[in-house]
Amino acid sequence: MLDPTAACILVIFGASGDLTRRKLVPALFDLHVAGLLPARLAVLGVSRTPLGDDGFRDRCKPFCATRRAFDEDTWHAFANRLHYHAGDAGQASAWQHIAPALRSLCERYGVGGNTLFYLSVGPDLFEPIIENLGASGLVRGGKAWCQSPAEATRRPRIIVEKPFGSDLASAEHLNRVLGRVFEDDDVFRIDHYLGKETVQNLLVFRFANLLFEPLWNRQFVDSVQITAAERVGVEGRAGYYDRSGALRDMIQSHLLQLMAVVAMEPPNSFRAADLRSGQRHVLEAVHPIAREEVPLVAVRGQYGRGTTDDESLAAYGEESGVPAGSSCETFAALRLSIDNWRWDGVPFFLRTGKRMRRKLTQFVINFKPAPHLFRHSDHSHIRPRRNRLVVNVQPDEGISLRFEGKVPGHGLHLASALLDFDYQRQFQAEPSEAYATLLLDAIAGEQSHFKDRNEVEAAWRIVMPVLDYWRDHPREGLASYASGSWGPTDADDLIKPWGRWHNPEGPLSRTGDPRQVEQPEARR
Ligand code: BG6
Repeated sequence: MLDPTAACILVIFGASGDLTRRKLVPALFDLHVAGLLPARLAVLGVSRTPLGDDGFRDRCKPFCATRRAFDEDTWHAFANRLHYHAGDAGQASAWQHIAPALRSLCERYGVGGNTLFYLSVGPDLFEPIIENLGASGLVRGGKAWCQSPAEATRRPRIIVEKPFGSDLASAEHLNRVLGRVFEDDDVFRIDHYLGKETVQNLLVFRFANLLFEPLWNRQFVDSVQITAAERVGVEGRAGYYDRSGALRDMIQSHLLQLMAVVAMEPPNSFRAADLRSGQRHVLEAVHPIAREEVPLVAVRGQYGRGTTDDESLAAYGEESGVPAGSSCETFAALRLSIDNWRWDGVPFFLRTGKRMRRKLTQFVINFKPAPHLFRHSDHSHIRPRRNRLVVNVQPDEGISLRFEGKVPGHGLHLASALLDFDYQRQFQAEPSEAYATLLLDAIAGEQSHFKDRNEVEAAWRIVMPVLDYWRDHPREGLASYASGSWGPTDADDLIKPWGRWHNPEGPLSRTGDPRQVEQPEARR
């Protein structure tokens, strides 16, 4: 729990960028409104763009103005916490000015050395900024972050936003660079999916209930699907995205993280060390993909033209900033298996894509069929559908379980029904914003929902064979899919022996269609 008297300066590098004004500052605004920010917490935005405090505040204001609790007085009270220093933190010389600006803000707010750095910059700036931080003398020399500024010894923390490298070698390098300046206990590798309420709830769902855990294994689970579909396209980020692609941008980071949460063993406690090692063990147990297997277990696609809600959508290749003939994948799907006692033989299907039919992040646990008790009776035609558990991470946060029931009336007729939990309806509250949750955790020094270095590296090890294969065969299997669709048909073929992707058309929870049948065809 955060000590409300804790004081700190949050230094955001890349303060004039999109993430800061769209996500970070509005998240801080929400925390301010909720009274959850320490009274003496201030932000120092650092970026090359020449802005003053007022200019920085003006850039952030429109994004806070959309918050429900916004009014001018609240904004002014909050905006007073925002400060700005124009400078290139990647250049050693700029620190002659950045360091004194930070020191004077620390003094003004009486925070001692409690400083939380946030790298919200392009990955090419990670290393120079970390090194300049090290050289500035602002980091070393303390024992621990302290909640009371009266204590003399402190050690600043750092939050690093993905991408954590662009491949295994660069991720290992980044971890070494960080390790030269920061203790690992002070490094917060942010994956905003870990801050999502429903992802955190999955841990509670699994480990605070007796009901599901006994079934959560190869004896009862037939397959697991994890989908993160987006309606949006590349959104003006072609410069970054075209070098990254869906596999790096979403699967290496968020989807493997989600898989680790679904598949982990019960941890000894909810403390960071136990949670993180449990998740890391899952990733380390993923069966390595052999090079020749890549075309069998990995699918990619790129969005073509299409329509959603009568809006005509451009193809990826027509988006501004995308190089002609780009082979960047905007859709990726993988079939993975986990070589451990619990999951041996259970396929995990991961898929993500831009410009898909709808925004949807979801886990689907498909259970094995019940024994066919009806076979030896007049009811041999009855084929009960399998149980299916669907966890909606977003939107329509909730969980639904499909089960079979008897249709009322004479005779034995079965129909599928849903047990449905709707997060908002149940708790009468909207899920909190992932960035707000994670910023508060970082201020409190709570690392449970941040990745550790080994987990990041394990995730890279999983995807490297696919990345290498795709690099060496830039167009092989790169299917085009219509914008507004559920992705390339190759992805349907990937999952076919185990059924179909769960592609809901209507509202997700409450009325999700229980009739959608997923009978696997003959297995390969
Ligand atoms: C980011 C990716 O990490 O996650 C983006 O870089 C993606 O490409 C975004 O759009 C999705 O996040 P969310 O919270 O909207 O699912």
